[in-house]
Amino acid sequence: MKYHSKISGLGYYVPDNIVTNDDLSKKMDTNDEWIQERTGIQERRHIIRGEDTTTSMGVKAAKIAIERSGVSKEDIDFVIFATLSPDYYFPGPGVLVQRDLGLKTVGALDVRNQCSGFVYAVSVADQFIKTGMYKNILVIGSEVHSTGLDMTTRGRGVSVIFGDGAGAAVLSRTEEEGKGILSTHLHSEGQHAEELALQAPGMGKRWVTDIIADNDPNDESYYPYMNGQFVFKNAVVRFSEVINEGLETNNLQVSDINMLIPHQANLRISQFIQQKFKLTDDQVYNNIQKYGNTTAASIPIALTEAWEKGKIKEGDLVVLAAFGSGFTWGSVIIRW
Ligand code: UT7
Repeated sequence: MKYHSKISGLGYYVPDNIVTNDDLSKKMDTNDEWIQERTGIQERRHIIRGEDTTTSMGVKAAKIAIERSGVSKEDIDFVIFATLSPDYYFPGPGVLVQRDLGLKTVGALDVRNQCSGFVYAVSVADQFIKTGMYKNILVIGSEVHSTGLDMTTRGRGVSVIFGDGAGAAVLSRTEEEGKGILSTHLHSEGQHAEELALQAPGMGKRWVTDIIADNDPNDESYYPYMNGQFVFKNAVVRFSEVINEGLETNNLQVSDINMLIPHQANLRISQFIQQKFKLTDDQVYNNIQKYGNTTAASIPIALTEAWEKGKIKEGDLVVLAAFGSGFTWGSVIIRW
């Protein structure tokens, strides 16, 4: 018997607290015009202290995805959680989801691939289902950025971009040929690891005794660093390559794409890809305007919204593509 995986349920959750560009301009030297022109972002969500965490948002998104999948909680047999902003340094949030959802003592895996996290997680889930090992896997991408950003003018090149939120999918076994996930493609180039990174906390960066002795709140290594233009230039090339790789593997053409869900890094990146592939507005879904860049959560949030709006229908060819810190990048080709 040949097994495949399909997405049987989707859900997302974002905190209620909306932070506009004008709100940010009260904290740092920035403005609505710059942010919209360079990134397309109008607003993003930030958690309210004590109300949400990466795990709690992931759990809220997961509950919706499980409900819609028609799969009972007892039948979820693996959890994969993608995030760069775990509640704890360890253990990762996968086990917290197992606990908070009251799942059986199923395996829980944490994926650390930043903006490509959801694509990597889906790929892992797909392999487990193809081998026959598991039937229903809960995949979550969730991020809290707001508590870790440099909200001064020094950090403006990074902090205006990122937002908080979570998305989830249930992947389930199907025996239907040519349906569900057709292929996944993963890449990395660690040579550029430091071009988009948060170096501390990290055991390579500091001894704990040093941190206790001279913890310097102005140490920039405690905030994410991004070489924006370098990341941008690499992103547009890798997005194109990995979408083409997925299409070629399945003998498909660009014209076969019904819906491209690009990782929401920057509206200008999405628009560049759209123009390069000559896709219409209906063939690409963007929501960075409302949520900013939510790294591992961005694709499942956008995919869920597009699906909720009826933009993805049975039989459609859906392409997910991501690029981010690592550098890592990847794509998923789905026949819905
Ligand atoms: O999700 C993972 C992957 N991430 C990405 O793909 C992000 C890729 N990169 C980008 O999206 C863009 O590079 C950014 C949006 C981060 C930056 O846009 P940019 O057009 O590359 O601007 P820049 O960094 O070259 O900065 C241009 C100017 C600088 O001023 P000077 O040196 O020209 O005087 C910055 O200091 O804009 C200034 N600037 C700002 N001004 C107002 C930087 N950030 C801000 C800000 N508000 N928030």
